[in-house]
Amino acid sequence: MNLQLIEKVVPADGEVYKPSDPFLAPVVENRRLTPEDSEDVRHIVLDISRSGMRYVEGQSIGIVPPGVDEKGKRHRPRLYSIASARCGEIGCDIDNKATTVTLCVKRVVYQDESGQEVRGLASNHLCDAQPGDDLQMTGPIGRKFLLPADDSNHLIMIAVGTGIAPFRAFVQYIYGDHGSWGGKVKLFYGAKTGLETLYMNEQSNDIGQYYTQETFEAIRALSREETTESGKRVYVQDKIARQKDELWTLIKEGHFCLYICGLKGMEEGVDQVLSGWASAEGLDWEEMKKGFKDNGRWNVEVY
Ligand code: FDA
Repeated sequence: MNLQLIEKVVPADGEVYKPSDPFLAPVVENRRLTPEDSEDVRHIVLDISRSGMRYVEGQSIGIVPPGVDEKGKRHRPRLYSIASARCGEIGCDIDNKATTVTLCVKRVVYQDESGQEVRGLASNHLCDAQPGDDLQMTGPIGRKFLLPADDSNHLIMIAVGTGIAPFRAFVQYIYGDHGSWGGKVKLFYGAKTGLETLYMNEQSNDIGQYYTQETFEAIRALSREETTESGKRVYVQDKIARQKDELWTLIKEGHFCLYICGLKGMEEGVDQVLSGWASAEGLDWEEMKKGFKDNGRWNVEVY
């Protein structure tokens, strides 16, 4: 097995904004991606043309909510995965810097123990923002959840909900600026319904436009529309399990980079499937996974 440290695409130098001195990024676009009767998820584009920053796919930026906390201190930034490739939505400027950065944000609203509605500070600030409003932005940050430099590595991307954000950036970069990918590119995406599969539905199909690429395969798991033979809801790990022969061979060969992004806890379902494959062959999955983690092939970003 190839247990060499994988070389990643290194973030280019550029201004990095600290929480103590954020960049004021004007909102260019704020568009709802989900149907009215489901969770509110937004495609938000910010103008960073005056920031001097550069980013690469897989990094995140921070958004500082307005106002101060109960101790009178400014709020801590919340992180959001960058959903655009390194040249942003409209291409790089003459210095090869993106003029925009895109986020995919879910509005956080829940009820506390007393039944009181609580609205998340940063996500509601973002989801309510209008074009022209300035948002306090920090970053970019992140040096691990990045594409491998060698494009013969197979990519296995697994997302739920807004976890699709970095993969929109990966796929746009791979088949856009980079042009192609030598290894296989597999995207497993879990959502409740077809219309909630962000960037992969009839209204908004940024990822779907690459379905015809020879190396690309996107597999959706729609938990409210599909059931297993035994009548249970279908989740991403069920779709992964159906590709055992191909995926297990890729993983055992060790020439791959796997990414999990989205809801906290989602990695457990994936882990169970792979651990089952390993133990059926008398292999120690925990040890294998540690090796993959140590050499940068196993990447998890859940929140
Ligand atoms: P705020 O911080 O004000 O409140 C959230 C709090 O409410 C949390 O303490 C949480 O535990 C609690 N809470 C939330 N739901 C609850 C419920 N149902 N019941 C009880 N308590 C609940 N988000 C996103 O939309 N898109 C993205 O791309 C990313 N990317 C990302 C990358 C990384 C690396 C991290 C660590 C996180 C993200 N996030 C994200 C999540 C994001 O940073 C942020 O946590 C959420 O938007 C919530 O922030 P607010 O300021 O809105 O909520």
